[in-house]
Amino acid sequence: MLRFLTAGESHGPALTVVVDGLPAGVPVSREAIDADLRRRQGGYGRGGRMQIETDSAEITAGVRHGLTLGSPVSLLVRNRDHENWRDVMSPEPQPDAARERRRLRYPRPGHADLAGALKYGTDDLRNVLERASARETTARVAAGALARSLLRETGIEVRSHVLRIGTVALPATVSASWDELSRVETSAVRCIDPATGDAMTAEIDRVKKDGDSVGGVVEVVARGVPPGLGSFAQWDRRLDGRIAQALMSIHAVKAVALGAGFAGGETRGSAFHDEILWSAGAGIERPTNRAGGLEGGVSNGQEIRAAAVVKPIPTLLMALRSVDLQTRQPQSASVERSDTCVVPAAGVVAEAMLALVLADALLEKTGGDSLSELKAHLEATRSGQRALAGPLDQR
Ligand SMILES: Cc1cc2nc3c(=O)[nH]c(=O)nc-3n(C[C@H](O)[C@H](O)[C@H](O)COP(=O)(O)O)c2cc1C
Repeated sequence: MLRFLTAGESHGPALTVVVDGLPAGVPVSREAIDADLRRRQGGYGRGGRMQIETDSAEITAGVRHGLTLGSPVSLLVRNRDHENWRDVMSPEPQPDAARERRRLRYPRPGHADLAGALKYGTDDLRNVLERASARETTARVAAGALARSLLRETGIEVRSHVLRIGTVALPATVSASWDELSRVETSAVRCIDPATGDAMTAEIDRVKKDGDSVGGVVEVVARGVPPGLGSFAQWDRRLDGRIAQALMSIHAVKAVALGAGFAGGETRGSAFHDEILWSAGAGIERPTNRAGGLEGGVSNGQEIRAAAVVKPIPTLLMALRSVDLQTRQPQSASVERSDTCVVPAAGVVAEAMLALVLADALLEKTGGDSLSELKAHLEATRSGQRALAGPLDQR
């Protein structure tokens, strides 16, 4: 229902995203999109590139006077750094010197360099890394801001926080409350606990001093999600699978867990499943949420909670062993200007991806060419659900 495609190279003129399927009447503000872009650029451990860029989205289609038209929405984010790369990244043919100046021949272990070179048959790794770079997530976050705007109109909100950076982690027993999640915006590492946050920044400092990189774990949470999004009727309609795919598609994400996730492999059923209770005031209640708001691939009305493991980024000042693709001689891997830790930023990207999946699943459930039609359909669904299970109010 809701589709999006991104285009753009890391040092090209701009990133573009086209979002198709938004109903008419959804409020869109450039400020709200830019606020999310700024959050993606932040986080302790980012490198020099983020100081050059001040990302801002130009709305080039699909919005009139602050509201979507129902037509595809197109957003453009210019790369300021392109000024320094004009000839190297020019779409027009250039003298060989321009290509040679920034040619990369030593693939970085863990990046797309080698696999991409083999895939496209090129010995200039620049042709690979320019698109493989996570600069692309800027376009995803811009698209996610549109999805978020639609969700907000129906009472659905998405937040994220950092659970772990390297060896420093929140205790596994801590489940961040919605209020705690709102406070991470003032934390340099987007951590709900200031003392753990300080330990995380110290961990990043240590790693940076060694010329190394460090990964971690983020959790993304959505509340207000109505029961009944997704379906168990077909494998590719399961919402759990769609969320996992969306999060796994983020650069450097290597594992995704829904709810209690991997703990399910070491827990008895009686201690794992969320019991179903009834009270006269609240109707159906669930005392726990180890399922992360998803049962049978369908949202069950509880908060949706998903965690993603972010690996340490591959560009290292203490470069790993690699090979010169031209001479076949041993070489240290290429070093591009790089971040040390991208875990907080990955959380913001995860919010965008979750928002896009939820907006898609919501539109699938409700249909509607306009926001008012969508809201009317959703209210009809909700009133049927209330008749069956009570208020179903998760706040
Ligand atoms: C927000 C964000 C920023 C990133 N910045 C860098 C970076 O500066 N240097 C780097 O080597 N990798 C960075 N990465 C990770 C790489 O893009 C990623 O490891 C690479 O594309 C290979 O994909 P894979 O790790 O999913 O296999 C970043 C990832 C994210 C989510």
